Amino acid sequence: AAAFFADGVLAGRRVLISAGPTREPLDPVRFITNRSTGKQGFAIAAAAAAAGAEVTLVAGPVTLPTPAGVARIDVESAAEMHAAVLARAPAHDIFVATAAVADYRAAAPAERKMKKSAETLTLDLVRNPDILADVAALTSGRPFCVGFAAETHDVLAYAEDKRRRKRLDLICANHVGAGKGFEADDNALHVLWEGGSRELPLADKRELARALVALIAERYAAA
Ligand code: CTP
Ligand code: CA
Repeated sequence: AAAFFADGVLAGRRVLISAGPTREPLDPVRFITNRSTGKQGFAIAAAAAAAGAEVTLVAGPVTLPTPAGVARIDVESAAEMHAAVLARAPAHDIFVATAAVADYRAAAPAERKMKKSAETLTLDLVRNPDILADVAALTSGRPFCVGFAAETHDVLAYAEDKRRRKRLDLICANHVGAGKGFEADDNALHVLWEGGSRELPLADKRELARALVALIAERYAAA
């Protein structure tokens, strides 16, 4: 812990973090979601709080306890997460988007439970707003923006493309699949910024979170 308490860059800084999956309702009893557990985001919230930051955590449905000293707001859908994050982002210094936001939602969720009939069923889906891109595009009160890129292949190329397209200060490339990333206890990251990069080697998600928070503090101070 001493390493990132040292220069106190994050002391009193306000850090907003999105975490977990989202749930996109199909009808009152069904939803679309993904395999995110929220572990990495919660670990980053804990590490940022330990570094002296005032942390707000906007969490999708997860089964994790709230880290000590962290203010938590629970949401379900991407639309709810978007509203909760955008309302708070201008009052924060740093935004770390770790949430695995569903890219699509049902175009028109059924108000009553859907009954089965035909042998096949086609769902009509529409794109969800991009929370991170919308925060990074704020013209007033824009926080320092950190994104994640969870990829199964061509990890660095896709991550660099996301960093540029969303105009991020930092992007954390995350190789997922085959026991890595989602649902795993260990993770490794390749962090990219304009003109530099650093590899954070495979470690327990809590240890990795501390290394990432130290790097965020370093880049935030340099920005
Ligand atoms: N993100 C977000 N809102 C969304 C989608 C993604 O805030 N609607 C954020 C994630 O939290 C992450 C980053 O954007 O920090 C990249 O998410 P990812 O799913 O890897 O990228 P997408 O832009 O959604 O592209 P794709 O899924 O097609 O790779
Ligand atoms: Ca996505």
